[in-house]
Amino acid sequence: MEDVLILGIESSCDETAAAVVGNGREMLSNVINSQIDIHKQYGGVVPEIASRCHIEAVNVVIDEALERAGVTFNDIDAIAVTYGPGLVGALLVGVSTAKALAYALKKPLINVHHIKGHICANYVAHKDLKPPFTCLVASGGHSHIVYAENYTDYEIMGMTRDDAAGEAFDKVARILGLGYPGGPKIDRLAGEGNPRAVEFPRVKMANNSLDFSFSGVKTAVINHVHKLGQRGEEYNKADIAASFQNAVTDALCSHTIEAAKRKGSKTIALAGGVASNSALRKKMTDMAGREGIDVLYPPPVLCTDNAVMIAAAGYFEYISGTRADMRLNAVPSLPLE
Ligand code: KG4
Ligand code: ZN
Repeated sequence: MEDVLILGIESSCDETAAAVVGNGREMLSNVINSQIDIHKQYGGVVPEIASRCHIEAVNVVIDEALERAGVTFNDIDAIAVTYGPGLVGALLVGVSTAKALAYALKKPLINVHHIKGHICANYVAHKDLKPPFTCLVASGGHSHIVYAENYTDYEIMGMTRDDAAGEAFDKVARILGLGYPGGPKIDRLAGEGNPRAVEFPRVKMANNSLDFSFSGVKTAVINHVHKLGQRGEEYNKADIAASFQNAVTDALCSHTIEAAKRKGSKTIALAGGVASNSALRKKMTDMAGREGIDVLYPPPVLCTDNAVMIAAAGYFEYISGTRADMRLNAVPSLPLE
């Protein structure tokens, strides 16, 4: 069979990305234009600025993705684009660009769900990985435990009831004055702290629910820091970062492993920006290992937003017959099911 080459386009948040992937597994190029330096002066993503930056970058990023892959538009079999969830103005840049390309080139257009994309990054990183498996998707906007039944269908087994895990990392980093995005900064600082210095709360869900809640631990960190501040006491930022990270990763690991056990999965895959957290990777690997479950995760560059994951998910959608037409629109709060 001829190789199927997919051009993926991602613009749901603050990364303008394009990539070419062969057969859903071979990364031929991966171009990411990050806007982090622009947004960090505001302490978070400013949607209007994000949209404008995407417009400026999108064509350049696509040209570079083709060039680095050593291909032209003619070699591409289909164009895959993130159509949700995400910031509407940001998504629209990718969606309109993909529609224009598909129309002009007379190539199929494939609409891709951003979270499914995150999961599919694992197929590029692990060539032998096949569904079914259990997956934790933890990013700045989402925290889901899903069961990957096949390459395109997923069952949601748990999700956050309030903040996403990455959002909690970003907010705690802001309280500690570490800057944006907070996840990698907490990860680094926590390495120097004691994870048992402060006992932050772990939420126990009723009725065996595998859902998460991270707003309580975030508030506990805020209160802890304020109380010490009011008393004029010095506090050790590394200890707080490590203790917070310990509480969040405890919940992520215990629920994901419980989900895998309920399904009889022998593999857990991690996905999303928070999947690059070093403590999460280690804890999940250790805890799941004791249950005879393997843990896989992509390299950090394929955990945070990228278009390789969109091209990979686009390939599996393409071969299962998914096609979008010129009516495709951005769907900011697109559900997974
Ligand atoms: O997947 P992603 O790039 O964007 C969304 O779809 O939201 O995830 C970004 C999130 C941010 O909240 C960021 O702080 C978090 O992932 N993150 C991390 C780490 N690297 C990125 N959180 C914890 N530890 C990390 N090393
Ligand atoms: Zn994402």
